[in-house]
Amino acid sequence: MNNASLQRRREAASPRGVGVMCSFYADRASNAELWDVEGRRYIDFAAGIAVLNTGHRHPKVTAAIAAQLERFTHTAYQVVPYASYVSLAERINAATPGTHAKKTAFFTTGAEAVENAIKIARAHTGRPGVIAFGGAFHGRTLLTLALTGKVAPYKTGFGPFPGDVYHLPFPNALHGITPEHALEALQQLFKVDIEPGRVAAIIVEPVQGEGGFNPLPPLFFQALRTVCDQHGIVLIADEVQTGFARTGRLFACEHFDALPDLITFAKSLAGGMPLSGVCGRAEIMDAPGPGGLGGTYAGNPLAVAAAHAVLDVIAEERLTERSQVLGERLKARLEGLHAQVPQIAEVRGLGGMVAVEFRNAEGQPDAAFTQAVLARALQRGLLLLSCGTHGNVIRFLFPLTIGDAVFDEALDILQAALLAQPDTAGTNATQPATESAPPTADLRTSIKLGMRKHFDNIGKSLARLERNP
Ligand SMILES: Cc1ncc(COP(=O)(O)O)c(C=O)c1O
Repeated sequence: MNNASLQRRREAASPRGVGVMCSFYADRASNAELWDVEGRRYIDFAAGIAVLNTGHRHPKVTAAIAAQLERFTHTAYQVVPYASYVSLAERINAATPGTHAKKTAFFTTGAEAVENAIKIARAHTGRPGVIAFGGAFHGRTLLTLALTGKVAPYKTGFGPFPGDVYHLPFPNALHGITPEHALEALQQLFKVDIEPGRVAAIIVEPVQGEGGFNPLPPLFFQALRTVCDQHGIVLIADEVQTGFARTGRLFACEHFDALPDLITFAKSLAGGMPLSGVCGRAEIMDAPGPGGLGGTYAGNPLAVAAAHAVLDVIAEERLTERSQVLGERLKARLEGLHAQVPQIAEVRGLGGMVAVEFRNAEGQPDAAFTQAVLARALQRGLLLLSCGTHGNVIRFLFPLTIGDAVFDEALDILQAALLAQPDTAGTNATQPATESAPPTADLRTSIKLGMRKHFDNIGKSLARLERNP
C-alpha cells in the first residue's frame, strides 16, 4: 500500500465533491505528529480542522474511550440514558461563561449543533428569522449552508436554501468594514428586509474560522447583545471552531463583556470523537417539547467519555495558558518576518488561534502566495491550512499539547517556507485549500468581483441611510 495507489483508488471510489487536500494517506499519529503510509513524518498544524487541541491520541483520552468500550458503546441516550451524559452536561453548564441557570444537549457534528440552536431559538421566540454574517461558516447541511456566508464552493449548486436567513457584513478593519458599518447594515436590514419582531436569532462566531480567523470586536458583540435585548432576539455564539482553549480561554466569548444566550460547540470537545452540543439559558433550552431534540448517535457514550477526559486534560495541563504562550511565540516569529516577506499584510489572533493574511504589491488578497507557502511547508513536513473569503490566510491549529521542540521545529519550517523562492514549491499538496477544493483563477476572480459588489452595496446602503435616515 503506497500513497500513489491509494490516490488512484480514492479517485475511483469516492466523489470529487469530497475535496481532499493531501495526496498522502495517514497511517498513525501521536500528539502533534502524523506519519503517512510510506513512513513520512509531518508536524500537524491542521489538527483535523481544529479538533485536536489535546493532540492526537492523548493517553488520557484513549484510556477513557477504552474503558467505556468495555462497558457499552451505544444505547441511544433518548432510550436508555447514562450518567456520563448528565455529568458532562453539568460540567459544560458550569464551564461556560455566566452564572445563570443553564442546560446542555449533545449532538454529533458542528452543523447539527447549529441547526439545533436555531430550532431552540425559534421554539423559544415563535419567530422564523435568523441573521448571520458574511464570511461565516456554520456547516454543510441545508440550514447551516443558508447561514454560511460564502457561496463557492459550499453553496454552489445546492439551493434552494431555507428562507428567512439574512446576512450582515462582518466587522473587519483590514477589509474596511467598521463595527459602525455593520450596525448600520443591521438597522437597514430591519427597515428593508425583516422587522426585528420576526427575528428569532442572531448567530455569530466570536472569531470567524473558515472566514479568515477574524476576531469579532468585543464592543460589537456588546452592541449585538443590546439589540437582542431590545427586541427579544436570541444571541448565539458559534464556538464550534473557537472552543476548548483554542483562544486562550475555554470559550472565546469569555473575551467579551457580554454573554450569549446559547453557545454551540463541537470539534475539540472530544479529541477526535464526534460530539457537539448546545449550551444555554435553561428557559430557552427548555422551549422545544419532549422529543424535539436528539438524534440516534447524539451524545454517544464513547465520545462523551472522551470529552470528560479532554476537559480534565485542558485543566491539568493548563492548556488555556499554553494556548496564549504558543500563540504569542508564533505571532512574534511571524511579525519578525514582516520586513523580509512584504506579502504579510496582518498577523492576528486570540491566544493560539493565530492567522497570517497575505496581500500582493497592489494590496490585493494573494491566494497564490498563500498556496505556495502551504505547498513549501508541506514539502518540508509541516501540515498547514488556509482560510479566508479570498483564500489568502494561513491559520494555525497546532495541538495545544505540542512540545516545545516540535513547535520550534514547525516554526523553522514555516519561516523557511515563507522565505523560500517560488520555484522551490513542493508537490505533495494536491489541493492546498482546506474544507474544499482550492479556488481556480476564474473562481478567485468571481469571488473578488462578488466581494467588490458586496462592499459597493454596503457603500450604497450607507449613502442612502445618510440621505434618508
Ligand atoms: C464555526 C463553525 N460552525 C460549524 C461548523 C460545522 O461543523 P461540522 O463540520 O462538524 O458540521 C464548523 C466547521 O468548520 C465551524 O467552523
